[in-house]
Amino acid sequence: MRIGVDYYPEHWDRALWEQDADLMQKTGVKLVRLAEFAWCRLEPREGEFDFAWLDEAIDLFAKRDIGVVLCTPTSCPPLWLYEKYPDAVMVEKDGQPTRTGIRGHRCINHPAVIENSRRIIEAMTKRYGQCDAVKAWQIDNELEAYFCFCERCNGKFRKWLKNKHGSLEAINRAHGNVVWSNEYSSWEQIQPPYGHYADAWMNPAYMLDYSRFASDNVIEFSNWQAALIRENSPGKPVTTNVWYSGHMPDFYREFATLDFMAYDNYPVTRLPDDPEECFSHAFHLDMMRGVKRKPFWVMEQLSGGMGCWAPMSRTTSPGMVKGYALQAFAHGADTVLHFRWRTANIGAEMHWHGLIDASNVPGRRFEEFADLCRTARALEDVRGAEIRADVAILISFDSEYAFKIQPQTEGYYYFEQPQRLHRAFTALGLNVDVIGQHEDLSGYRVVCAPELYVTDPAVSERLHAFAEQGGTVILTTRSGVKDMNNNIIMDQLPTVYRDMVGAVVAEYNPIGADTVPVRFEDGAVINGRQWCDILEPEGAEVVARYDADFYRGKAAVTRNAFGKGVVWYVGTVGRQALYDKIALATVREAGLDYVPDLPPQVEVTTRVADSKTFRFVFNHADAPQRFRFEGRELTLAPFEMKVLKPTDR
Ligand code: GAL
Repeated sequence: MRIGVDYYPEHWDRALWEQDADLMQKTGVKLVRLAEFAWCRLEPREGEFDFAWLDEAIDLFAKRDIGVVLCTPTSCPPLWLYEKYPDAVMVEKDGQPTRTGIRGHRCINHPAVIENSRRIIEAMTKRYGQCDAVKAWQIDNELEAYFCFCERCNGKFRKWLKNKHGSLEAINRAHGNVVWSNEYSSWEQIQPPYGHYADAWMNPAYMLDYSRFASDNVIEFSNWQAALIRENSPGKPVTTNVWYSGHMPDFYREFATLDFMAYDNYPVTRLPDDPEECFSHAFHLDMMRGVKRKPFWVMEQLSGGMGCWAPMSRTTSPGMVKGYALQAFAHGADTVLHFRWRTANIGAEMHWHGLIDASNVPGRRFEEFADLCRTARALEDVRGAEIRADVAILISFDSEYAFKIQPQTEGYYYFEQPQRLHRAFTALGLNVDVIGQHEDLSGYRVVCAPELYVTDPAVSERLHAFAEQGGTVILTTRSGVKDMNNNIIMDQLPTVYRDMVGAVVAEYNPIGADTVPVRFEDGAVINGRQWCDILEPEGAEVVARYDADFYRGKAAVTRNAFGKGVVWYVGTVGRQALYDKIALATVREAGLDYVPDLPPQVEVTTRVADSKTFRFVFNHADAPQRFRFEGRELTLAPFEMKVLKPTDR
């Protein structure tokens, strides 16, 4: 397990560099990430490079056996570029150019941005591509699928549509443009979703294509950089860092050409009062591991209270700096870099807390970090250890985009049900894979495929085959609603899944913030929220029924024997207890080994290397917990992780 830090030599007095590097070495830091925003210091004037300071910094770390992750600085072109090419900035939704002064305001399709990016990347990779100290490359920083509304991007969107659909007639058909007389008769009529009105007023079919284009657009930029880096730095791993944001590119496509997945992990420092809230970052961590189905890196890890542009969050409670990093290891990371070494004392990110305060006096958080470094050293044999899971949850970026475009009902958002299912299965001490909907399902016993709203026939076929061969599939509300164009499939819900489910949605009720009691056959009553599919069984057994409204007594949850397997359908969005109940029933039925009676907020994950099994037991609560685990008494402090090695058994 490797620990590193994100470091900005260009922000600090040179006199500090050596001190910092010495302290890093002494503490056990193995990697530093450098230069992602340093373009103005690397190329202070167009075509004039200054690598002396970076040479010096890299050298300083290399001498202390600290490797470097070097970044392409393309997120922040220097101001000379914007001065020369004022239209190189992104254009906002209202058609106005973005103002410079923050970061990431470049249009990645502007020829000057591309040419200047090429030049700086070539210069950097020629200089450092073969350098031993450079262990990996990071492309740009947190590339998001942002929409730029400039004419170039618009032209690219038209081209993208042409490539995909072929002709205006085909686009008109696919987007249903006859509605509101929006049929195109020339390519120039195709516009991005400009305007002050909400995207919700735009045609959902068009908007889904636009979201896919925005994702593809940024992925193309990333792929282009990856190829460029590899020309001069063959064999060095290349990645980019992402976060769980409102504008995620399709990670499965984005990382297909990159060597490893890197995630920016900022768990909350204040746990929500309502235990119902899905607060564990375990879902995100499992999702990031699932992108390449391989160990991943955390490129930025929480180091203190978050702040700067928003009011500051609480500081990290004792245990969080270390515990959250170990939680990432438990879920499949093998390298974690902390953001940041020291709190900034200049610039926009002042008050975003690093491991060391701006005073440069190492304190409580730093001591905890030093302790993490010692623990990570002791966990060296876990590096590369696999996480094997019997349970998988499928994710679809098409559905994520489509639900953003049409949010269905008050409070409804795509990731709630995947997260609740994840929480339900992990509460049983099981490893859970969160993977792309196109992944191979062999090896799994239970596959949750919540809200497959945009229907890809290949996915539905794979799910049919999986159940037929003996697997358990869990489907939910809003399955099979749309076709690949994001138009409604003209069939009764859940359309392509109807035979598997063994029930049909006779009617639905989007109840938003209201609730409806759902009564299980065993008498348990759990509230349904947001959505009620009123199910008519066609062979399925009824597991739970609504207990109110005009559909009292109608089926809410069903279970159907299909082929050699079983298919569940959850027709409402429940409180956590609903998913807990279904997870337990499916796990028992599938005969999986699980950990009964884990206290809430205790997570158990298992990593396997050769014949060694490592159990990670994490207390995610801000209070100590004492409980029996596999025949022994365990006491965990708040945010404490215990790693039980096989020898401990
Ligand atoms: C990340 C970003 C960093 C820094 C950090 C804290 O999203 O990549 O550069 O801004 O947030 O603000």
